[in-house]
Amino acid sequence: MDSTTANINSDLPNPPLGVGAFKRYLVTAALPYANGPNHIGHMAGVYIPADIYVRYQRAKKTDIKFVCGSDEHGVPITIRALKEGVSPQQIVDKYHGMIKESFEKMGISFDIYSRTSNKIHHETAAAFFKKMYDDGLFEEKETEQYYDEKAKTFLADRYIVGTCPVCGNENAYGDQCERCGSSLSPEQLINPRSTLSDAIPIKKKTRHWYFPLQNYESWLKEWILEGHKEWKNNVYGQCKSWLDNGLQSRAMTRDSNWGVKVPSPPAPEGGGGKVLYVWFDAPIGYISATKELTNRWADYWCKEDTRLIHFIGKDNIVFHCIIFPAMLKAHGGFVLPDNVPANEFLNIEGDKISTSRNWAVWVHEYLKDFPGCEDVLRYVLCANAPETKDNDFTWKDFQERNNSELVAIFGNFVNRTFVLMHKLCAGKVPKLHEDILDSIDRALIAEFEATKLKVENALEQFKFRDALFEVIDLARTGNKYLQEKQPWIVAKKLEPSTAPSTGGGLGEAAQKQIDNCLHLCLQLTANLAILVNPFLPFTSRKMLHMMKVVEKMLDWENAGKLKLLSVGYSLRPPELLFRKIEDEEVVTQIEKLKSGLVKPNAGSQLPVISKEPEAAPSAKLATGNLKPEIQFDDFSKLDLRIGTIVAAEKVEKADKLLKLQVDLGFEKRTIVSGIALHFNPDELLGRQVVVVANLAPRKLRGIESNGMILSAEDEKGKLHLIKPEEIINPGAGVS
Ligand code: MF3
Ligand code: ZN
Repeated sequence: MDSTTANINSDLPNPPLGVGAFKRYLVTAALPYANGPNHIGHMAGVYIPADIYVRYQRAKKTDIKFVCGSDEHGVPITIRALKEGVSPQQIVDKYHGMIKESFEKMGISFDIYSRTSNKIHHETAAAFFKKMYDDGLFEEKETEQYYDEKAKTFLADRYIVGTCPVCGNENAYGDQCERCGSSLSPEQLINPRSTLSDAIPIKKKTRHWYFPLQNYESWLKEWILEGHKEWKNNVYGQCKSWLDNGLQSRAMTRDSNWGVKVPSPPAPEGGGGKVLYVWFDAPIGYISATKELTNRWADYWCKEDTRLIHFIGKDNIVFHCIIFPAMLKAHGGFVLPDNVPANEFLNIEGDKISTSRNWAVWVHEYLKDFPGCEDVLRYVLCANAPETKDNDFTWKDFQERNNSELVAIFGNFVNRTFVLMHKLCAGKVPKLHEDILDSIDRALIAEFEATKLKVENALEQFKFRDALFEVIDLARTGNKYLQEKQPWIVAKKLEPSTAPSTGGGLGEAAQKQIDNCLHLCLQLTANLAILVNPFLPFTSRKMLHMMKVVEKMLDWENAGKLKLLSVGYSLRPPELLFRKIEDEEVVTQIEKLKSGLVKPNAGSQLPVISKEPEAAPSAKLATGNLKPEIQFDDFSKLDLRIGTIVAAEKVEKADKLLKLQVDLGFEKRTIVSGIALHFNPDELLGRQVVVVANLAPRKLRGIESNGMILSAEDEKGKLHLIKPEEIINPGAGVS
């Protein structure tokens, strides 16, 4: 497990001693590119840890702002627009909305979720550049870049495709071959061509403004390598290797029409087809978003007693630890990040997340498939967060953590406490009889404060997994305590006819024991609500509702206390905090993941984002990866028939779906099939296919599909429909 990896720096205080006097915090989370929906890798690596940290600080009453927004410029956006055949503006509008909504639904509590296409951002970024230009901080250089003469535009590496010199893939990109993974430069491609026009790119001279990072090298070494030894090992290590290898000038402008126009001068009025490099403008987005949020923005950005923390994924380390700080330093007047707790990557079912292969669990789809289970995903992604090394998400583990931790430990403790309190204490908070407190009770009480301190300590060091496990451990301790005290057994000592609250004699002593046990369990429940709040905010709110207390109770200073609920106060009946997740649900998710898989360069090369679970039969992950053995009986349940396609049309707003009419001889069927990326409707007319004729009907995009057609995928990702050798009578059985 990654929490055991030694962290040589972990003993250092965080924040470092002597810098402790921070008056306010500014937390940023990497601005996601608005070129696709967000997936669980983004959540686990960046947004969930950032949100936990911020919620914890808010509960401590820290002056804190949490800013984020969509990164709407750069090549990723224009490429996506090209692929979807729409304008970059349409792309960012669509995905900005989607991303924003899924953050909200997951409870990611940004103070602002802005976007870099906003006017305020364009102004802020252009002014930042202008100041650096006026101060003479850029070098102007002329170089040769690839140019498309037909489309009359310079080409980013990604816009050039050609044959990979390594594996022969004819659709390798100018920066990378997605089939063999080689990283390339456009010069290495055989037969390079422009994706815009198919023209052969030529080299053409162009001028750009370069930021001489080497001038900041010794300052960066001092600042990071000497001054921030407390940074996480993975972050510190990456910075050290960049700095040891020596820094170079980097172009801060690009030839493009999409982005923040380079101000004039140096560029002519209107930018002259030049925009700021996306990695120059995007981090300035943190500043613009803060400006948009509050007119106190300068307190957060310019006062030395602000603690600035960037939450990011590991691919962003150089930009946040080296380039952006150098920009801030060069510009002057801004605080620098005090910490950059970057995470590694999350894999899914043992394989790297890939949006182009559609190997991902999309947040908006999770929310649809598991309504009301936002906290479960927050829990699992925090418990498995790739804090010190890449980590794996599996659906089986998701189910297990839910069923055996959330349901069986946390939920179970809270539920038992409430049920027993209603049964044995008339639904009211019973008294604590100090005179009969025993050592078991005292040990439990001591855990309240101890756990609070352990959680705090872990959170301050960005060890979110450890912090979460401490909270679960406290619930586990609660279950053990109940098991030791067994108030339901004690209750048997009460005379059967006597109501609990009016018992006398032996009954009275027993009732006092019961009171103490449940009093402590209820106070523990209140403590759990406070401690779990940063991690599972929805659950915490449900607990508040059950306890009939207000949000104010969640103030962090209340954690560790024994008197959160007043004696005699009547509480609501329990609500289940978590539900069991069944085997079928995870099987369905695994199937969905596999059936959505797109091979590199398959079909139209369009990374498919809205997966249809019923898409073409799944590409096997590895040949020979057989499903479990079945009996002949299992096979004979299938009714396979030959059919003839008599009509075919696209399904609106579903990239992958075709609606087919298939003649089975005895009847005509409507079948919706996920093959639209592979076939034009017209080429299918008259084709014979094999149909699973007794498959239960399913609705897809509102159309009822009655059956499924069989196909096979070759090693190039091309789909072949299975057909009889010669045309035969439709309706013929296949066995
Ligand atoms: N859009 C970038 C990515 O997804 C992150 C930008 S972070 C910022 O990798 F600082 F530049 F905003
Ligand atoms: Zn290749």
